[in-house]
Formats: sequence, C-alpha cells, structure tokens
Amino acid sequence: MSVRSAMLSQLRNRRDGFSLPRDFYTDPDFYKADLETIFYKDWVFAGHDCEIKTPGQFFTLKIGDYPVVVVRGNDGAIRAFHNSCRHRGSRVCTTDHGKMRRLVCPYHQWVYNLDGSLFGARHMGDDFDKSQFGLKPVHCESFGGYVFVCIAEEAPDFARFRATAEPYTKPHGLENVKVAFESTIIENGNWKLVWENNRECYHCASNHPELCRTYPEAPASTGVSGGGDDPEISAHWARCEAAGLPSAFVMAPDGQFRTARMPLIGDAESYTMSGQRAVARPLCDTVVEPRIGTMLLFHYPSTWNHLMGDSATTFRVLPISPTETAVTTKWLVHQDAVEGVDYSIDELTKVWISTNDQDREIVEENQRGILSPAYQPGPYSPEHEGGVMQFVEWYANLMDKRLSGEEAPKLRSVA
Ligand code: FES
Ligand code: FE
Repeated sequence: MSVRSAMLSQLRNRRDGFSLPRDFYTDPDFYKADLETIFYKDWVFAGHDCEIKTPGQFFTLKIGDYPVVVVRGNDGAIRAFHNSCRHRGSRVCTTDHGKMRRLVCPYHQWVYNLDGSLFGARHMGDDFDKSQFGLKPVHCESFGGYVFVCIAEEAPDFARFRATAEPYTKPHGLENVKVAFESTIIENGNWKLVWENNRECYHCASNHPELCRTYPEAPASTGVSGGGDDPEISAHWARCEAAGLPSAFVMAPDGQFRTARMPLIGDAESYTMSGQRAVARPLCDTVVEPRIGTMLLFHYPSTWNHLMGDSATTFRVLPISPTETAVTTKWLVHQDAVEGVDYSIDELTKVWISTNDQDREIVEENQRGILSPAYQPGPYSPEHEGGVMQFVEWYANLMDKRLSGEEAPKLRSVA
C-alpha cells in the first residue's frame, strides 16, 4: 500500500474525538507526506518585518528541506528566496539574521541584488547570461508586522487570512516594535503533538504554575468556540470593541486560522509573575484601554500569538524530523522601549521561558509514550480538549482533500 493510501485509509477510519494513530506521530513517510502536503504547499509564518527594517537586512528559516531567506529590498519591499546559490547551490545567507548591501554567496562570491537578480559572477565567460541565474523566488506576504512565505509553485489564497486578521493586529502597531528577546527550543516531538499540546489547557494546572497566575485555564479562553456565551468574555469583547479593538471570535471556514481577544485572570495585563505589565512603554500609543487581556491569533501549521497591551509574544513552529520540532518564541516591545529602563528581559520572558520548557517536557513524554508499540489512540476530553479536536479535524480534512485530490468532506465539528 502506498503511503498516500495508508494515510487516507487511517484518516478515514480514525475514531472521532480520539488522538491519531501512531504512524501520524512517528512514521518517516507520514512525516514526509506532512511536509509535502502541508508545509510545502501552505503559507508559513517566517518572522516579523521589524526584524528587517532597512534595505539589505535579512533573516533565514528552514521549511523542511528548504532553506529560505527573507530580505528587505532597496525599494522597501520584503521578498523571499530559496537560499540556495544558482552557481553550485551553497547557502547564500548563512546566519539567522544579517545585513548585506547585496547578497554575496560565501563560496565563490556570486553577488545577488536584493531583488534576487544576479548582479555579478566572476570569470563565467562571455556568453554567460546572468539574467537566467537569479535566486528562485518564494511567495511572500506581509501585514500587520507579520511576514508569511509559501514555497509552493502556486500559493493558496492569502487574502482571506489578511482580511480577517489585519483588523485585529493593526491596532497593536507591530510595524513599530522590536524583538526584545528571542529563543528557539527543539522539542523532541512530532509537530502535531506540539500543536495538540498548545490547543488545550487541560494540562495547565498541573504543569504551568507561572502561566496559571495570569492565564485562565477555562476552555472558552483558548478561543476554541469563541466563548461568546461566557458572560465574562462577552463583557471583555464589548469593553475592548468600544475602545476600538476588534475582539470577538472569528475563524476561517476550514478552521486554519482563528483569532479572539481573551481576558486574563483578574486585573492581570501581561504574562508576568505579578500580572502587571512587564513593559512600562505601551506596545502601541493608540491602545490606551487597560486590561485588554491577550489577543490570540492562530494560523495552522506554523504560528500562535499573544498580543497584549505592553508586549506581544509570538511563536513559530517548524518541523525538523518525525520526532523533532523547532519552536521559536519572540517577545516584541515598542521600538522605543529601553531595556533596563522600561523593562527587564527576565521579567518580560520568565513566564513563557518556563512555560515553553514545561511544554517541551510534556510533549517529549507524550512522544516517548507514543513510540511504544502498545500506544493506541485515546479519547480527548470533550470539556477541555475541543481545541485539540479542532486542530486534528483541520489536519485530517486538509490531508484528505489534498491526498485524494478531492474537496474536503464537510467539517464535522469546528465549533
Ligand atoms: Fe555560490 Fe559558487 S556556490 S558562488
Ligand atoms: Fe502548556
């Protein structure tokens, strides 16, 4: 049986409301199919435009086997390219972040303009046509401070996500921020286990003492079903929307993205040990309403985000192998906020550094247990794991649609 047939068969025979069969979390061929069907076909969160404010600034990332570079051009536009030299294939940009007037390959010094065209190549003969050897472009879109890339030949529609998310991100002014701190951890777990763990707080009380000081573990707060019938959440949306901040829950029809502004516990305004703001300088001058809680923004398969009044914490998920996933966290503050005056890195990052490490441990234990041949799919909690079921539903429907070449079956439960 081909991998495609095996995946389709297991997806179609899986039990609703149960975790996926073992192969989805462990098998190298299933992992390759995840890359080829999702990560190589869809939009992936790359980074923030504040990281490349001036021409020549770039950052790099790796989507499966594909190194990608994202660079600011002399015209101010942000572009993305395959980070593989058109001479003999060396990576052109070899660091996570950097700045070059032009992109110079370190191997034989072919020089590329910031728009990807080849500027110069030494000793290649008179009939060498440099117009044929520009860096291969990658689809790139940017809005509200976020840069997404897609390495597919033909990218799926991005306008729908932009139209939905931009009104929510815009008031936070993420174009005028800076990355105060960044961390990348490798979780020894399949990328879907990282997401499943993220989409529930069933595990929070027993694993996240720091996060639970400010983050409510109530299922409605994870943005699973919108929480509109929860009076506290409804009142929160009404207050924030009256202050000009879009807040009510919205979701893509296929479940790929969702956003909502959720209250934190009590008077908490940020993810700190005290609940007080970590940054004295607000993230954005136009957001004056206190206690706006956290704006949750999810976009499968690569990012979840928390936007608060004083700072934003953004997360990027990139698979490395069937059982390894890189999770990059960035803490954004206003570009004029001064470390040591307006904030301390320790106070700003303590809760999520601790939480990330705790999540890494539980994802790794989850993976170790699933590697046992004795593992069999188990039931999700209807009360607490609706978000996990929604993620699995999105994954299963998308894989089915793309592997079978047919339209997705109607979503069974996306509430
Ligand atoms: Fe880039 Fe030779 S591989 S210049
Ligand atoms: Fe967690």
